[in-house]
Amino acid sequence: MKVVLAYSGGLDTTVCIFLLKEKYGFDEVVTVTVDIGLPENELRRAEERGNKYADKHYTVSARKEFVEAIYRLIKANADYEGYVLGTAMARPVIAEKIVEIAKKENANAVAHGCTGKGNDQLRFENIFRQHGFKVVAPIRDLNLTREWEIDYAKKHGIEVPTSKEKPFSVDENLWSRSIEGGKLENPSFIPPEEIYEWTKSPKLALDEQEIVKIDFENGIPVALNDQKLDGFELIKLLNEIGGKHGVGRTDMIEDRVLGLKARENYEHPGATILITAHRDLEKLVLSRRELKFKKIVEEEWAELVYYGLTNDPLFEALNAFIDKTQERVTGWVKLRLYKGSVIPIARHSQFALYSEELVSFDTMALDQRLAEGFSAFHGLQGRIYQHLRRKI
Ligand code: ARG
Repeated sequence: MKVVLAYSGGLDTTVCIFLLKEKYGFDEVVTVTVDIGLPENELRRAEERGNKYADKHYTVSARKEFVEAIYRLIKANADYEGYVLGTAMARPVIAEKIVEIAKKENANAVAHGCTGKGNDQLRFENIFRQHGFKVVAPIRDLNLTREWEIDYAKKHGIEVPTSKEKPFSVDENLWSRSIEGGKLENPSFIPPEEIYEWTKSPKLALDEQEIVKIDFENGIPVALNDQKLDGFELIKLLNEIGGKHGVGRTDMIEDRVLGLKARENYEHPGATILITAHRDLEKLVLSRRELKFKKIVEEEWAELVYYGLTNDPLFEALNAFIDKTQERVTGWVKLRLYKGSVIPIARHSQFALYSEELVSFDTMALDQRLAEGFSAFHGLQGRIYQHLRRKI
């Protein structure tokens, strides 16, 4: 019996390799690490551990697929209750790659190391089940706690990156880094500076402001400071630049799919810069009604991604609407980064609905006297109501 395990190289999934044999009787465990923009050292560490503890290990790249997914996040101004959806969007991308390997390996089942309290179990399994795979989730099934896992790991001579002193669960990809668990679970606990790796605290950020220019084509970022870059490089660079300015930290209470409220900490400098820029450009080119309606679409869209329901037909339909609006989201935005803030300061588009001719105080293109008639009708019902009210 053979099982393919989605493998990060962390505590949960490393413990799973042993549990799959010991408690489930699999004789072959194949680990798969999917690269969605992990730091090189983490990828190598996962690879080393996979090779050491599993019967076979694969490292596969899904960078291209993940960048495509990130383009969708940007076009939809990704935001679930203030969360930029990095982990959420990565899960179906990872799951599809795991399925590819599981099919190639003729595996009897696929496994993951998610707990029964989070969202990731739902996101992974929706895709695994779609492809007809039996799912094994040892950490959830066996009702394990992190403390137990750490002891178990020690007993089996597994070297693990987490110790009881610093038991944070970190999930990282090109779009965002999430830090949760341990002391952070208490919402009234102020996180120590050491949980952050991508961002400087605004206090220690560069003293000089920095202005960045981002070019968009059909809602997708294509150049940084007039230099054409592929998506992966552009986002990576913005993470570095934004991080130095302390941009893109979130400390929030989040409503998980299961209904649990959780305290989450995130870092996402590139995401914050790109979405701030993208929103700004949209304000220049989309109509008032498009903007208003797109907000509703975005909220629904973000919820589908958060819930791991990107295979729902609604997701396709919402994307079709979003893509239609993005046909005119071409142009550039300049933003000022300074001590944790990112503020748009200039923008341009050939599709701007803005007309200097019409709005300017200095031109005669539109006769302002015409507004008197508009004004006479404006608020009519309110005025009638206020008169009536005095009589009641
Ligand atoms: N709360 C976020 C989400 O549901 C992040 C989860 C991060 N996962 C982790 N194992 N640290 O998408």
